[in-house]
Amino acid sequence: MTDRNNTFRLDGRKVVVTGGARGIGFAIAEAATNAGASVAVLDLEQEALEHAAAQLRDSTGGAEVVVQVCDVSSYESVSAARQALESAWGRADVLVNNAGIFSNAPAHELAVEEWDRVLQVNLSGAFYCSQVFGASMIEARSGNIVCIASMSGLVVNRPQPQVGYNVSKAGIIMLTKSLAAEWATYGIRVNAVAPGYIRSAITENFLGTANVREYWLGGTPLGRLGSPEEVASVVVFLASDAASFVTGETVVADGGYTVW
Ligand SMILES: NC(=O)c1ccc[n+]([C@@H]2O[C@H](COP(=O)([O-])OP(=O)(O)OC[C@H]3O[C@@H](n4cnc5c(N)ncnc54)[C@H](O)[C@@H]3O)[C@@H](O)[C@H]2O)c1
Repeated sequence: MTDRNNTFRLDGRKVVVTGGARGIGFAIAEAATNAGASVAVLDLEQEALEHAAAQLRDSTGGAEVVVQVCDVSSYESVSAARQALESAWGRADVLVNNAGIFSNAPAHELAVEEWDRVLQVNLSGAFYCSQVFGASMIEARSGNIVCIASMSGLVVNRPQPQVGYNVSKAGIIMLTKSLAAEWATYGIRVNAVAPGYIRSAITENFLGTANVREYWLGGTPLGRLGSPEEVASVVVFLASDAASFVTGETVVADGGYTVW
């Protein structure tokens, strides 16, 4: 019988993480290197990328980390990033669509430019990266994509009004299902993780408001924010062969928020 415990690793895999210079993306890059992968971190600024790469090499005892400036909201930038990576580093076995932004405003006041910007980065960006990096996976008849959605793609969070963000994340969940259905035939699995409230400079700052604290922590059965590492471990699982029969799925990691 196969020892399934050996399958929770990414040894020898090449993993691309978008928006990996900080936050959840950085934790995903770190968890992937710890699981044996070589990682390419994509983000908007070279300086932030180099800083992240140095931190990653430090914390993982010198794992292979490459960096590439890329704006996921631009198809040209994503195509150029793939070309540069493929000639210097090789073909990605795993793509993690993590880059994302949010914007809070009531729907009746939300500037149309803000709506466009959030959808362009969060949803179109994930599609562009999937199509561009997916092309090489299709050619190789093998690959794996993990998208970072949000519980906001499943429920409307309170008290912050964030219609564009919610819609973009609901779109990610359906993008995940659609790509999984179309690309299974090429040996590509596509899954998503839907995190709840995760600790970051921004979420910690919001928690300073009593109203927010009450909704966010009071609404979470586990009674706390999650850590970026608690999202990253689910991503590594989905990208690994331990999840070899899982595709089109969105795994919710929200401390139980959406069960109430
Ligand atoms: N923090 C949370 O509570 C939470 C909860 C649910 C889902 N998420 C999702 O997790 C992902 C990461 O969130 P985070 O909290 O780590 O955010 P963050 O703002 O700390 O990090 C996002 C990273 O993405 C990069 N980025 C932004 N726009 C980009 C673009 N156009 N091209 C390339 N890179 C870009 C940023 O430079 C940054 O390094 C996002 O998709 C977010 O929606 C976060």
